[in-house]
Amino acid sequence: MRLAIVIMAAGKGTRLKSQRPKVLHEIGGKPLLAHVIAAASKIVSPADIYVVVGHQAERVEAALASTSVNFVLQSEQLGTGHAIQCAQQAITRYDHILVLSGDVPLIRPQTIQKLWDFHQTQYADMTLLTAIPENPYGYGRVIRKNDSVEVSAIVEQKSLLPNQQNLPEINSGIYAFNTAALLQHLKELAANNSQGEYYLTDMAQILTSAGKRVVAITAPDITEVLGANTIAELVALDSTLRANIASRLMAQGVTIFRPETCTIDPDVEVGPDTVIEPCVQLLKGTRIGSDCLIRSGSMIENSIIADNVTVRNHCVIEDSSIGSGAKIGPFAHLRMGSEIGEDAHVGNYVETKKARMGKGAKANHLTYLGDAEIGAGSNIGAGVITCNYDGVNKHRTVIGERVFVGSDSTLVAPISVGDGAYIGAGSCITREVPADALAVGRSRQFTKEGWAAAKRARMNKEC
Ligand code: UD1
Ligand code: CA
Repeated sequence: MRLAIVIMAAGKGTRLKSQRPKVLHEIGGKPLLAHVIAAASKIVSPADIYVVVGHQAERVEAALASTSVNFVLQSEQLGTGHAIQCAQQAITRYDHILVLSGDVPLIRPQTIQKLWDFHQTQYADMTLLTAIPENPYGYGRVIRKNDSVEVSAIVEQKSLLPNQQNLPEINSGIYAFNTAALLQHLKELAANNSQGEYYLTDMAQILTSAGKRVVAITAPDITEVLGANTIAELVALDSTLRANIASRLMAQGVTIFRPETCTIDPDVEVGPDTVIEPCVQLLKGTRIGSDCLIRSGSMIENSIIADNVTVRNHCVIEDSSIGSGAKIGPFAHLRMGSEIGEDAHVGNYVETKKARMGKGAKANHLTYLGDAEIGAGSNIGAGVITCNYDGVNKHRTVIGERVFVGSDSTLVAPISVGDGAYIGAGSCITREVPADALAVGRSRQFTKEGWAAAKRARMNKEC
């Protein structure tokens, strides 16, 4: 049986009131359409997935370029039926197609599979996935034949007659079709409705009238089939998705306090006995080990955190790694390519970028470490700056092991400091410091005894 999946994603999303095409709006940290493609890819290979694009097609294609699905152009968006008409050429070589909506992102592969199995066992020409939500307003409604598995029609919200307003069963916008039956009757769609659009939903009535078999199966979980037509709906779907992620992690032994305030992406992993405080964001493939404490207000993105790490409040950690036992923050900013070693400390108002800190190294206060290497056991005093940028190029600072860099020192890169060296506070270091040396790069202090008292006495006399 040759099966393809068509995803309708050409619409503008007028109700979102946004410049961005609807299917590129994000929930769970990725576009709506990416969720649908991910689910579809569990059923068929990407080569058999056809995404109908139209509104800002290039932008949508570019955003999903890494998925290797096919794109079909619907240059004018004349409705969901027209979207499938545009895909006709692509689908003729398949026996059946599944149709998904690009704005129904929480659909699970298991449910798509269920629809597909049901479609086959029913020998149906069209099978719709339906649901019975608390509030069906806005959705197309399903009219069953004498309460049976068979469907006689789908009526769109705007076309509902007064006595149909309370019909409870909604059309999810997800269907299976026998391709031959679909293609035979697809041209019969007419745009004779209030929107002047070709509705794919009209196929139910067209096929039934032609003696074809149209059936429906109800989705087990209503949240799977909800659409994102407005920002409020979008945000609600995001909350549902994130609540599911938090529940999954908690079931794996992660403590998440006030999970509704945390933003955790689906591809994030966290080890057991880790505690996550309120208002934490864990994003983009971040992996956190066990027995960690991530305190309130911290954001960790695309980073790897080993076991027993403490991230105190209000840290921003991006594209970095942190070794076991390390302590970070509060108010630390670890930028791209920072590698913090085991038991290292990065304290308040410390910024690192492409900085490697060895085991037990410390930079506890008010420091910038950029393009730097700090050996094991070294101590970076308060206010130390690696001057890595000469206005054109970036240069490296290499600090050995057990080095003491006194407070308020600047290290003008490229520069190296050997193991065990000592740098006096307030130094501006511009030349290599050998191992075990003392370097002091500041003007010598002079002291004039009694100077201040003499000045005060002079001023008192003048007044
Ligand atoms: C559609 C269904 C409705 C169902 C609901 C479920 C129709 C006519 N109605 O309504 O019965 O309850 O989905 O969520 O199908 N699209 C295109 N090209 C177009 C128009 C739309 O590709 O010309 C795409 C959109 O990008 C979207 C999907 O089709 O991803 C559904 O379109 P939308 O306008 O959101 O339909 P609904 O009004 O939600
Ligand atoms: Ca919709």
